[in-house]
Amino acid sequence: MEQYNIAIDGPSSAGKSTIAKKVAARLGTTYLDTGAMYRALTLSALRKGADLESEPAILAVLDESEIHLTQVEGHQTVFLNDEDVTETIRSTDVTKNVSVVSSHEKVRAEMVRRQQRFAEKGGIVMDGRDIGTVVLPNADLKIYLVASAEERALRRYHESVAKGMTVSLEQLTEDMKARDHYDMNREASPLRKADDAVELDTTHLSIDAVVETVLNLIKK
Ligand code: C5P
Repeated sequence: MEQYNIAIDGPSSAGKSTIAKKVAARLGTTYLDTGAMYRALTLSALRKGADLESEPAILAVLDESEIHLTQVEGHQTVFLNDEDVTETIRSTDVTKNVSVVSSHEKVRAEMVRRQQRFAEKGGIVMDGRDIGTVVLPNADLKIYLVASAEERALRRYHESVAKGMTVSLEQLTEDMKARDHYDMNREASPLRKADDAVELDTTHLSIDAVVETVLNLIKK
């Protein structure tokens, strides 16, 4: 089967991971959630009490942390120094601090190098913020997923409630907007749509409809 490299970018809670996972399953290829790598690094930095604003401090944390992503039956599991942190990296604390940690240029350079190594193994569906622009500039297909801020906040809210987390929709909306603003305005590879990416607005689309649209775009 032909191997495709597919890049999926967009703001938070636009459905990137859900779509990327399903597209990868349909294609029988690997899926890589690059946000999980930055989240695991953030968790490690928080635990070590590192100065999140300091690039040398975060680089040192990256150097001292073993971050591994594996896939078991379509589920991605994230390990930090052999501890399964798949759930822990979704905590409010990590979510609030991940943008600062991922804004450092040298930290990004190392992460990008690791992500590109994943892609060398064959076809991959990768989701993040800089996949189409930096990590996989020659991807066979680039998707930029968007949805209205209201819809994205609601999705995140329902996800959090289903996990038993106590959250307020207002706070969640505010945090989400702040994170997107930070990601779009940082100096090092800010979130933006690659010139050759196809923009898909998922506000009124079901997950299956988006997956089919992406698969049809691959066939073209
Ligand atoms: O996708 P997710 O919401 O888990 O990403 C968490 C954060 O990691 C983003 O808000 C962004 O700051 C950072 N990130 C990034 N580049 C990527 C993936 C994620 O800067 N490729």
